[in-house]
Amino acid sequence: HRMTHMNGTAMSLAFTTRVHNPDKLHDPLQALAQNGYAIVPDFLSPSVTAALLAECQDLHNAGKTHTAGIGQGSRHQVLPAVRNDQVLWLDSTRLSPTQTLYWQAMEDLRQRLNRTHFLGLVDYECHYAHYPAGGYYQRHRDTFQGANQRRISSVFYMNFDWTAVDGGQLRLFTDYTTVDVLPAAGTLVIFESQMEHEVLPTQAVRHSLAGWLRCREHVF
Ligand code: OGA
Ligand code: MN
Repeated sequence: HRMTHMNGTAMSLAFTTRVHNPDKLHDPLQALAQNGYAIVPDFLSPSVTAALLAECQDLHNAGKTHTAGIGQGSRHQVLPAVRNDQVLWLDSTRLSPTQTLYWQAMEDLRQRLNRTHFLGLVDYECHYAHYPAGGYYQRHRDTFQGANQRRISSVFYMNFDWTAVDGGQLRLFTDYTTVDVLPAAGTLVIFESQMEHEVLPTQAVRHSLAGWLRCREHVF
């Protein structure tokens, strides 16, 4: 059933009105409200996920990614001891057809979060992240100092046939416990951006799309 879609038609890369099954989001959105995070397996079909991965790999191989940093504006720093991934920001005005499918799914999620959780999310930003073997991102929060537009973090994984020996789990430090998520292809994780989390050392090249649903800047 993974290759079929809402109405049972075969999934294709042609534009569809809905990229993902919105019913699938009901339980995760309740979980997000209760626990501050949610895991959505099979957020996108394997074919769309594979197409996204191929494009990201091409961009990386073409040298379009750059060493990721931390902090915003004048606080921006490249600190390889903290994170050592390579990233490429998606330009929402120049998305490929496949990237558009992903963006639509996140846009649906954004609108749904606003309806159900009254979050006032106004936009989305997203980068592809390439973690080399030996890659990691130490424990951190996604909210920047002095700016608080990031409300909900999202990570979509594109790693086929990933198992625990490959490492690279996303570790979430929730109020009650730590939760480790395998970065398996098709899985989307959403969590409150203020929640601490880390990427455990990965043994193999690890591909993700990390994004942030943002609200308007608050002025205090
Ligand atoms: C990030 C991040 C997690 C992941 O980019 O800020 O925490 O699993 N990514 O890729
Ligand atoms: Mn993060």
